[in-house]
Amino acid sequence: MSLIAWSQKLAVGHAEIDAQHQKLIALLNKLHDQMIAGGAKDVVGRVLDDVVEYTNFHFVTEERLMAEAGYPMQAAHKMEHAKLLQQALELQQRYKAGKVTIAIDVLHFLRDWLNQHILASDKALATHLARPAKAVRA
Ligand code: FE2
Repeated sequence: MSLIAWSQKLAVGHAEIDAQHQKLIALLNKLHDQMIAGGAKDVVGRVLDDVVEYTNFHFVTEERLMAEAGYPMQAAHKMEHAKLLQQALELQQRYKAGKVTIAIDVLHFLRDWLNQHILASDKALATHLARPAKAVRA
């Protein structure tokens, strides 16, 4: 069973962001499935690497879109990204050092964070990006 099921409810209406969210969800589901199946440490570790790498790539994309659009909430949104990425990097390092096994509650935390972040912060961003550019005064 998947950790997260993609649904229209999670769509923010921006093609690039939605496509990246779907890929991120697919990677989290893969990590979940490997873990449930009792995958070997190096196999699970590689999927975890993919999750961290893709999360970083996705945040860079959103932050580029925010900067290009002069999004007024970008500082707060970037802060949410930075906090999550920091937690993900710590988890990755601890996992590599053999100090942690990925517990189901870690995956549930990531799932809940992603759901909340998409539904609130990313939807607000996509709404801003969908607005027509301000007319330049003559
Ligand atoms: Fe975001």
